[in-house]
Amino acid sequence: CGIVGYIGRQDAKDILLHGLEMLEYRGYDSAGIYVMDDKNVGHLFKEKGRIAALREKVDHNVPAKTGIGHTRWATHGVPSIENAHPHQSTSGRFSIVHNGVIENYKAVRDAFLTDSMLHSDTDTEIIVQLIAWYAEEEGLDTIDAFKKAIVALKGSYALALIDNEKPDVIFAAKNKSPLLLGTGDGFNVICSDAMAMIKETNQFIELMDGEIATLTVDDIKIETLAGDVIIRTPYTALLDLNDLSKGTYPHYMIKEIDEQPAVIRKIVQNYQNDNGELEIDAAILEEMTASDRIYIVACGTSYNAGWVGKQIIENLTNIPTEVHISSEFGYNMPLLTEKPFFIFLSQSGETADSRQVLVKINALGHPSLTLTNAPGSTLSREAKYTLLLHAGPEIAVASTKAYTAQIAVLAILGELAGRRKGFALDLDIAHELGIAATAIESIIDEKEVFEQLSVTHLSTSRNAFYIGRSIDYYVVMEAALKLKEVSYVQTEGFAAGELKHGTIALIEEGTPVISIITDPTTAGHTRGNAQEVISRGAHSMIISLDGLDQPEDAYVLPKVHHLLTPLVSVVPTQLIAYYTSLHRGNDVDKPRNLAKSVTVE
Ligand code: G6P
Repeated sequence: CGIVGYIGRQDAKDILLHGLEMLEYRGYDSAGIYVMDDKNVGHLFKEKGRIAALREKVDHNVPAKTGIGHTRWATHGVPSIENAHPHQSTSGRFSIVHNGVIENYKAVRDAFLTDSMLHSDTDTEIIVQLIAWYAEEEGLDTIDAFKKAIVALKGSYALALIDNEKPDVIFAAKNKSPLLLGTGDGFNVICSDAMAMIKETNQFIELMDGEIATLTVDDIKIETLAGDVIIRTPYTALLDLNDLSKGTYPHYMIKEIDEQPAVIRKIVQNYQNDNGELEIDAAILEEMTASDRIYIVACGTSYNAGWVGKQIIENLTNIPTEVHISSEFGYNMPLLTEKPFFIFLSQSGETADSRQVLVKINALGHPSLTLTNAPGSTLSREAKYTLLLHAGPEIAVASTKAYTAQIAVLAILGELAGRRKGFALDLDIAHELGIAATAIESIIDEKEVFEQLSVTHLSTSRNAFYIGRSIDYYVVMEAALKLKEVSYVQTEGFAAGELKHGTIALIEEGTPVISIITDPTTAGHTRGNAQEVISRGAHSMIISLDGLDQPEDAYVLPKVHHLLTPLVSVVPTQLIAYYTSLHRGNDVDKPRNLAKSVTVE
């Protein structure tokens, strides 16, 4: 979900709608804005679906100077106009937007509110009704009512509130979910991500848990729940507006696929010191190499990158490494070794499933490192160490360049940690990453091969399989996830050798099966598995590394270092996902039901 707020002298509607468009990739089930006009009359506009639909619904003649807005990824309650934010109190006096989940909303509802007071199925409405209850029944001042309501809430929230009786103010508060206050000359803004308001300002103040902010046209006041005033100077958000636009590309996804060689080169540059040697914080290497086991924790595409990371780290450092799904790890924690070291992988740095693990790990006192694309994000702030991905904003919901960036940074980390352990590695990872970047370029230059393959074999198929062994198995997990996410083709990424032990029953006449083969020790076996599915009617396609035996019609990937093959073998699968989605007529950048950053568990 995404939140925006504006108070100033310009037209609030346009600024809010633009801000929501920038955040749309975080949720797009429904959206809404609430604005105060110059006569202090409030106007609420909500619509199901995309921001474009909301834009049409908004009365553009309303002269708005203050407002709040929200784009939603449904948690409690179906996507609908009723459940869209802003939510209002029964009296209409208070309007609120909310990111996060109120865990005790049923208890709050039962204790304070009656059914007849509620109009939606959302946990958010409980907040605004509770504020109204304190203000209207107990006669509290707005800020006190807001504070009292917050004390009653358990869960995660970023909130922006408008009280019609205080039309020159926006109130904000947060717990766990991020919220930024942007400062400008003659205006102030609120947003859950700097990207939303970067057009207006690059000066942001981070609001912390347990603080309340009061924004007026010329001032931002931050105080704690106890009333202590906080002075915090703004930081400059280093976001380039050009990075946020599609340029001449039809979709962000294909732009981001194309950016991968440049991202890998940029990563190498960023991790090189003035002498051109790779370098990262020595403290990270020290704690990592002193550990007896590394636990990689992540979700989605980042989790799949984690498996490649395991292969690289074990190979270069000899430290046993486990990979875990965040939502499983937090509540069913395996027995930890004596000196664990945690690596969190998260493009956004905001994924709630991963954060709940980090909170537990911090409580246990174990060292942690976050690899993220978002400087200053929650997982970055709360982990002991951070390494940035330097991939630039990733806007398409389906992750591509963050996956390859994670692998590249893990490879640098692996090499430096291995050297720190005193291993004489026969490897120059900076050089090998350069070779991989060039290899990706040559695959990208042949996009039409994958467009053709998608049109012929996947655009009408109901299901598909990717198979591979060892490091290729890790890649096919990501390949399958990508195809599922954007094309809705039911796809499995399977360990090639395991297919025959059950899942091969699903192979029918014409079922597409794509094998990834880059590992010479298992290449022959995987080719054998491809033959097994061909014998059962499958349509087999092989993506293979240069130098291996392969059928004539295989797509041949340029040769790269054996630990970095995922950087190149994943690219055809990203292109296949993109073109299959495109030719199925899907919304490539915003696939149904998904959101870029999921801030609920
Ligand atoms: C969401 C996105 C996925 C992403 C996952 C983890 O589910 O739709 O594309 O891989 O979150 O996100 P993170 O930001 O933690 O890498």
